[in-house]
Amino acid sequence: MPSEGGMATPMETDEAEVGIGIKQPPRTSKTDDEGKPPKVKLVDKGKAPIGETRGTPWVEKYRPKTLDDVAAHRDIIDTIGRLTSENRLPHLLLYGPPGTGKTSTILAVARQLYGPSQYQNMTLELNASDDRGIDVVRNLIQDFASTQRFNFGGKNNTKLVILDEADAMTKDAQFSLRRIIEKYTRNTRFCLICNYVSKIIPALQSRCTRFRFAPLAPVDVTLRLRHIVQEERLNVTDDGLRAIVRLGNGDMRKALNILQLRVYSRSSPSGAMFLGVNMARFILA
Ligand SMILES: Nc1ncnc2c1ncn2[C@@H]1O[C@H](COP(=O)(O)OP(=O)(O)OP(=O)(O)O)[C@@H](O)[C@H]1O
Ligand SMILES: [Mg+2]
Repeated sequence: MPSEGGMATPMETDEAEVGIGIKQPPRTSKTDDEGKPPKVKLVDKGKAPIGETRGTPWVEKYRPKTLDDVAAHRDIIDTIGRLTSENRLPHLLLYGPPGTGKTSTILAVARQLYGPSQYQNMTLELNASDDRGIDVVRNLIQDFASTQRFNFGGKNNTKLVILDEADAMTKDAQFSLRRIIEKYTRNTRFCLICNYVSKIIPALQSRCTRFRFAPLAPVDVTLRLRHIVQEERLNVTDDGLRAIVRLGNGDMRKALNILQLRVYSRSSPSGAMFLGVNMARFILA
């Protein structure tokens, strides 16, 4: 799994490989004259408004909003989609290297279960490795799971707890989590997400249906990047795209960050500075 190896990306040496030009998009009513970000508008199906603020990281702008938007992993997505629409969602354990769509998938499931207006009310998203410890996590879950919540207008009143970075929990915390899951199974589904499934205790694994998110195949990354290139009205050569796909190495987040960083660093050094710091830190890590 390439990303788990923490491949460093030689950004400086690949300059020549990634040939990207930018067509200036025609000015529309969505951008004002000074290029200030327009007001954020809620848009269905994960399509962020074109011309949205230049500073928006594309990984967020193009985060899949529905299961259909998730690239690759068709078997997994079809199975999870079926279980979701039949209201038979088990506890889930989604694992695999970074940037493969685990978080995006469960967020899309939450939207499908509860609808865009209720999904935040019915979902608790936690970082399982919370610095404050399992007690805080337990209390938050307890508060959430024991409060009656209604999915107004929806047929599903089972709540969803998403525990990201579950592999960073100590063994004790995981045993504690096992008891929490048992206690609230009646009205709550848990989705554990991690990179390394081997760090999850068997007692937790056996309570969940496991899905492995493999690194994305080059063809899937290419298709997704082409879609974004089209939406952003960019001019990217085939060689440039191939180089990005290769550098991304199956990590869609990385590929998208490289594409955006390249585009911004070519269009405006200050733009690159503006959003480059975090991305560069990530890409060069
Ligand atoms: N399968 C995918 N289809 C479409 N976009 C994807 C996919 N996987 C990742 N992305 C892009 O990468 C971003 C990060 O994806 P996501 O948060 O789902 O990854 P993850 O698997 O949860 O990674 P991590 O293990 O680092 O938390 C998304 O916002 C999206 O832009
Ligand atoms: Mg994630």
